[in-house]
Amino acid sequence: MYIFKAAVVGAGTMGGEIAQVISFSGLPVVLKDVDQKMLDKGMETIREIYQSRVDKGKMSAGEMESKMALIEPTLSYDSFSDVDIVIEAVPEKMNIKKRVLADLEEVVPETTIFASNTSALSISEMAAATKRPGKVIGMHFFNPAHVMKLVEIIPGLETTQDTIDDVVMFTESLRKLAVVVQECPGFLVNRLLMPYLNEATYALQEGAADATEIDEKLTEFGMPMGPFTLMDMLGIDVCQYVGEYLYSEYGPRMEPAKFFYELVKAGRLGEKNGKGFYGYGDESDEPVKELLAAFPKAGNSKFTVERLVYPMINEAVLALQEHIATAPDIDMAMIAGTGITYQGERKGPLAIADEMGLDCVLEGLEELFQQYGERFRPARLLKTKVRAGHLGVKAGRGFHEYA
Ligand SMILES: NC(=O)c1ccc[n+]([C@@H]2O[C@H](COP(=O)([O-])OP(=O)(O)OC[C@H]3O[C@@H](n4cnc5c(N)ncnc54)[C@H](O)[C@@H]3O)[C@@H](O)[C@H]2O)c1
Repeated sequence: MYIFKAAVVGAGTMGGEIAQVISFSGLPVVLKDVDQKMLDKGMETIREIYQSRVDKGKMSAGEMESKMALIEPTLSYDSFSDVDIVIEAVPEKMNIKKRVLADLEEVVPETTIFASNTSALSISEMAAATKRPGKVIGMHFFNPAHVMKLVEIIPGLETTQDTIDDVVMFTESLRKLAVVVQECPGFLVNRLLMPYLNEATYALQEGAADATEIDEKLTEFGMPMGPFTLMDMLGIDVCQYVGEYLYSEYGPRMEPAKFFYELVKAGRLGEKNGKGFYGYGDESDEPVKELLAAFPKAGNSKFTVERLVYPMINEAVLALQEHIATAPDIDMAMIAGTGITYQGERKGPLAIADEMGLDCVLEGLEELFQQYGERFRPARLLKTKVRAGHLGVKAGRGFHEYA
């Protein structure tokens, strides 16, 4: 099915930018909210994004106006009778999402695809609440949506192959990278990133190293920024919330570090309020040092880059063995979603494991498992690969094949 017209419901942080991305591709898009102020703010953000392109000489003022004219901001469903796809970006509450889908069903044609930008809620549950479960799908954009290339495409249990194909094609027409991910908590990028961020926080709270040193070592390794800088950007409260959610779904290996709670309790939420692991503007990180000094220490805790990277690799292997995505897709999603590199090349966690040697990764995980427990229990598929001699680059095959 070709998509001639789209709609976005919810003009907040994500919805506004998603509408900008759609209009930039040349497609008309209706942007609906229930709050005129949010709608105005969303349109203002879109104009700012286009204006910055004009200022950089990437687009003329006339082109900007013709792109802006493709967006119809509205508080009503009047213009929804001919939309081919609706992306909902309303608050992350299942009852709100279900209500919006029920309202949409009254106003759009039977053929319209319903896509949800949810970060964590079940697509299958949303689909089951509609009369078109085959046409409901997740379309998880990353923030900021006008910059980030990756979109995770999440089919629910009943989503048809046609819907998946249509949405992948639509995503590519937006000049984004579509990676199909089976429904699982955290989808792919957040699921793999959280064990890494969590482990950084464990190493910090145990006194193994300070935040600056850990950040430096991880940028030297190939991350575009260190874990604490990233968590300050994402919001410590968001990290705590995502950590708790993944813990409730995956169990002990995802148990969040206690220090998240200390920071949130102290009102240190990250860059958004000027103070997180680091201080911004007039704020300093002295209070964090005081909180850390009072935190019970683990005597033999050590910081190594592997201590943070191995849990991400291990989670990638778990996702692979659960058939959440293919090995190339897992690596591509992590490269596009996090900017990870290894020895100067863009490589995802499975390709990095292949370079390191799967036997070395397994041995390292087993040692860490002995010392720190469940967070490092090696994935079954990793052990199987090592037993079969699929050790990575040096053996010509590991998670990928090598000539
Ligand atoms: N913020 C992020 O970093 C991020 C990243 C990826 C995905 N998401 C997901 O995107 C979705 C939206 O998140 P956000 O951060 O943009 O939220 P937000 O709070 O910034 O925006 C939500 C918007 O929805 C509007 N709204 C509420 N009820 C509505 C209704 N019934 N009909 C129409 N509009 C309605 C609100 O007025 C608001 O403008 C959530 O599911 C979230 O999990 C967020």
